[in-house]
Amino acid sequence: MAIKISDHAQWVGKTDWQLTSFHGDELSTHHGSSYNSYLIRDKKTVLIDTVWLPFDKEFVSRLREQIDLKEIDYIVMNHNEVDHSGALPELIREIPDVPIYCTKRGEAIIRGHYHQDWNFVNVKTGDTLPLGDTTLTFIEAPMLHWPDTMMSYLSGDKVLFSNDCFGQHYASSSLFDDSADLNEVFAEAEKYYANILQPFSPLVSRKLKELDGLNLPIDVIAPSHGIIWRDDVSSIVEHYRKWSAAYQENVVSILYDTMWNSTRIMAESIADGIRTADPSTEVRLFNVAHHDKNDIVTAVFRSKAVLIGCPTINQGYSFAMGGIIEMLKGMKFRGKHGATFGSYGWSGEAVERMGKDLAEAGFNVIGNGLRLLWVPDENAVAACRTFGEDFAYALQSDASSHQTN
Ligand code: FEO
Repeated sequence: MAIKISDHAQWVGKTDWQLTSFHGDELSTHHGSSYNSYLIRDKKTVLIDTVWLPFDKEFVSRLREQIDLKEIDYIVMNHNEVDHSGALPELIREIPDVPIYCTKRGEAIIRGHYHQDWNFVNVKTGDTLPLGDTTLTFIEAPMLHWPDTMMSYLSGDKVLFSNDCFGQHYASSSLFDDSADLNEVFAEAEKYYANILQPFSPLVSRKLKELDGLNLPIDVIAPSHGIIWRDDVSSIVEHYRKWSAAYQENVVSILYDTMWNSTRIMAESIADGIRTADPSTEVRLFNVAHHDKNDIVTAVFRSKAVLIGCPTINQGYSFAMGGIIEMLKGMKFRGKHGATFGSYGWSGEAVERMGKDLAEAGFNVIGNGLRLLWVPDENAVAACRTFGEDFAYALQSDASSHQTN
């Protein structure tokens, strides 16, 4: 089904209602997704991006219902990860000579994936493709989130085809922001940012400033996943501006694993201490072995501080905690504080090791952590509460020192 998004452009993508994970199992997708492809029909006809490989035949077949494929003058590939380039081989079989406009790095990625000598045309920022009444202008956006990424701007209709930027893994029959559940859409947009774009936040900030400088009138932002923004274009842009600037809210997340509940008791007692010292702070607890890892990363993205706790297992920490620590290191968070805790029976190395890991991940680690032998008794629970209170006071003191500096 094709859906009109502007005078000359229509959506010809695929909604994937049953997608539950993306990037293999790296990213959970609780609300499915869509692979947004767009057809622009002016004096010249352009297809922007395709869809993921499992839907290649369906995509080409539905596209053929809209247009004689031989009438497609150009394909523009804004980004060539397989969720967007997967249907290229099926399509190019039908129109083998069609020029494929992409960045130089985009060509290398397409060649690396499909090993074909197609008709590539390399473009860079500022290059244009006149289509008749409208013109496409290309804007490179390297590492947002792959080296090949670019955006394309359609003058006349004032549409920014932003690819992964401003997108969400969100399947919907609504397609547009004015008819979607915006609470869900923004939650998915934030999860997308926190788990995919966060490591590249300084580049996102810079790109937003560059777009500001270009002064492009934008009526529609058409990303490559999820809802298309047309009712309130500025809202998602302003969210990106906030999210890319070392984002945090007044939230502390406690991430823990536990074998026989001792470290869980510590986590909950530390939370009590934080709330006692600073009732205005929201404290959220996650068992890293049970909770969705990407929801945990999103919670950390929102947090001003993170405590991680784990019992010592074989002189280290648990499998689940190891995975979360690896994710935290990759996300390159800035301006967040941290601390560690855990129970132990005889050697107790986990707390110190997690402290080093948190520091390596870029967190400002407060103190040397709290270790407790065996099962917490009343005194140990009190020590955990005091640890939580002291942590909250240290956060307050840091915040006030930043205000006076
Ligand atoms: Fe939606 Fe980076 O591909």
